[in-house]
Amino acid sequence: MSATDAPSIALVGAGAMGGALVRGWLEAVRKGGGLTLTVVEPNFDPELQRELESVGAVLNPPEPGPVDVLVFAVKPQAFAAVAPSAKRFVGEETRILSIMAGVHIEVIARELGSQRVVRAMPNMPARIGRGVTAYVAAPACTAADRALIEQLLSPLGSVEPLPAERLMDVVTAVSGSGPAYVFLLAEVLALAAEQEGLDKETAMRLASRTVAGAGALMLETGESPTTLRKQVTSPGGTTEAALDVLGAGNGLGPLLRRAVSAAAQRSRDLGKN
Ligand SMILES: NC(=O)c1ccc[n+]([C@@H]2O[C@H](COP(=O)([O-])OP(=O)(O)OC[C@H]3O[C@@H](n4cnc5c(N)ncnc54)[C@H](OP(=O)(O)O)[C@@H]3O)[C@@H](O)[C@H]2O)c1
Repeated sequence: MSATDAPSIALVGAGAMGGALVRGWLEAVRKGGGLTLTVVEPNFDPELQRELESVGAVLNPPEPGPVDVLVFAVKPQAFAAVAPSAKRFVGEETRILSIMAGVHIEVIARELGSQRVVRAMPNMPARIGRGVTAYVAAPACTAADRALIEQLLSPLGSVEPLPAERLMDVVTAVSGSGPAYVFLLAEVLALAAEQEGLDKETAMRLASRTVAGAGALMLETGESPTTLRKQVTSPGGTTEAALDVLGAGNGLGPLLRRAVSAAAQRSRDLGKN
């Protein structure tokens, strides 16, 4: 069996993101694939462990040695401490996948002594398989390496390759941090509804369902946000009255431009450390 059909993986950190990856890989095994998985994590979910064993995955083999893919899903600040002991999983054929925010390919390659590194940035909806993950592969990665990594990231949602690592800062600012902007939109919409007379609970329900429903519609129809916005905006109507305010010179566009720029700059600054 090849690494694509039955990979051997070592996963360092199985919290929210690492756990979501494992749940996806588990499904691949249910569908007939193979998996040998070593989990380095102090609090690995026992339910997930039982499920892995019940589908026939090989979990925590006694002498794992070098693996096909070594995955880092710990917090970035934990990397320096875990890297030395993770070296035992690295051999000639090992690809390294990191989803740690702000840890550069160069640092990962240096600490682990391997150039076949892929750095990825998922986002929060990955926890339910509805995220978007952008990744960049080091030059030493082959096309087959990229294909394998895309396959392993797919449980988190859609996957987007990037041509250059410097773009990770803007990705962090847009899709990485972006769910928070959308949650804020729901919050301030609810507040505005309250100020116009709705009770707090109804206001929050209407605002959250509106944000969720609009997102789902965009995803399910495949229509662009511009098309959908035009569809809901009749000339001289209520939506247009609101959009005139949001689209004004100091409206949502320039505000988000500044917000994304601040997040990207913060990502660049954090990356320097
Ligand atoms: N969550 C997001 O939306 C998001 C988005 C983009 C990127 N990321 C990146 O994804 C990575 C994981 O984030 P997360 O949200 O999944 O964090 P998380 O839920 O805190 O998961 C990290 C896991 O690593 C474990 N851990 C800590 N020290 C360890 C060690 N020395 N060896 C092995 N495991 C260790 C933690 O255990 P304890 O809890 O016991 O410490 C925890 O279970 C981060 O690097 C983050 O930058 C996350």
